[in-house]
Amino acid sequence: MAVPLAVFLVVSVATLALAAEIRASSRGRFLEVARSGFERAAEISAEGLSAGYFQWDELRDLAVAGRLDAANALLADLDDGFRYALSGRIEAGTPPPVPWLFSASGTALTARFPVRDSAGGTPLANLVGVVRLDAERMLAEAAPGGEVALVESGGRAFAFGLSARVTHLPLQALDILLSILIGIAVAAPVGMAARRHARFFYESKGLETIIFLFEQSDRFSAHHSRNVGALALFIGRQVGLRGRRLRDLYSAALLHDIGKISVPTDLLQKPRSLDAGETETVREHPVAGARILDNFWELAHLRDFVLRHHERSDGSGYPGGLAGDEIPVESRIIAVADVFEALTGERPYRSRIELAEAFSIMRAECLDRDLVDLLEARISEYPTFQLPRWARASRA
Ligand SMILES: [Fe+2]
Repeated sequence: MAVPLAVFLVVSVATLALAAEIRASSRGRFLEVARSGFERAAEISAEGLSAGYFQWDELRDLAVAGRLDAANALLADLDDGFRYALSGRIEAGTPPPVPWLFSASGTALTARFPVRDSAGGTPLANLVGVVRLDAERMLAEAAPGGEVALVESGGRAFAFGLSARVTHLPLQALDILLSILIGIAVAAPVGMAARRHARFFYESKGLETIIFLFEQSDRFSAHHSRNVGALALFIGRQVGLRGRRLRDLYSAALLHDIGKISVPTDLLQKPRSLDAGETETVREHPVAGARILDNFWELAHLRDFVLRHHERSDGSGYPGGLAGDEIPVESRIIAVADVFEALTGERPYRSRIELAEAFSIMRAECLDRDLVDLLEARISEYPTFQLPRWARASRA
């Protein structure tokens, strides 16, 4: 499952990166909107402060007279008229060359003003009006969603030298969840396709390898198995099996006698009847076949079909003595195909048997009666039956 896991990780990480990029872009937009509102509020406040206080003849005259305490007393109610002003005073200093100048220190914002008369004349030298502004309040009103906050350090450049960061990320957890879900949604079909591909590959290649080995040990049985495979497929189609079930039936039919690998070849090819001990040895091949398939995870699901192909409808078969519907339909089909092929094909110990006699023997052997009837009714179509492409591909 390495491929789907890799797909899941790549897609999830890529989606998360995309979400992060979108969030970063959103943060940038939040910051731009907040900055614009903040700067506008600050400029309007400064303009009002400049006109209202620092171009005020009374204040200027007190300052010129050196009565800074009295001048500053005039600034005591500054916060009443200007919602963003915290405090203001006149102090010694170089007046800015512009009507107002902002400066920041940490999260504090200060505006400096030249002190002039009401006509806006030449500013007083060596005196400056200083007003502390409530930057937090200005920001809260400029960005009421609370997405942007001023920070001492580590944030992005904001306005007038202040730093800020976007702190409110309402969809962050959802971003991660969505990324995982998208990763799963993309990886799951890939995983299923990869598993299907792997299973088909191992089935076809595994079959080829096993049949090749089978042929090396017993060419006759291998030839028989191929014929049984085609015949089982023919019957399986007639009874309505489709897709995966038909493939499994075909694979199981090809492998139904694989357990004969464990039976001595000279016993299998003996041109006369077997004695009791020899018969017992040969009758072990379904169990041996199931045991072999158990060792191939991609073929192990076929083990019961192979194990039961010598069971009979009346319970007289082996190895379990199962009867009727206790026997998987796949095994019953394989049994019909197996006996039919054995009877109508050449054997070392006898010649082929005619069709009518073959079907009569099959009924006497307690094979599935319906399947025997069906095969007899349709056997004339079999010589022109074409294996599907997938079945031809899996033949060695
Ligand atoms: Fe068999």
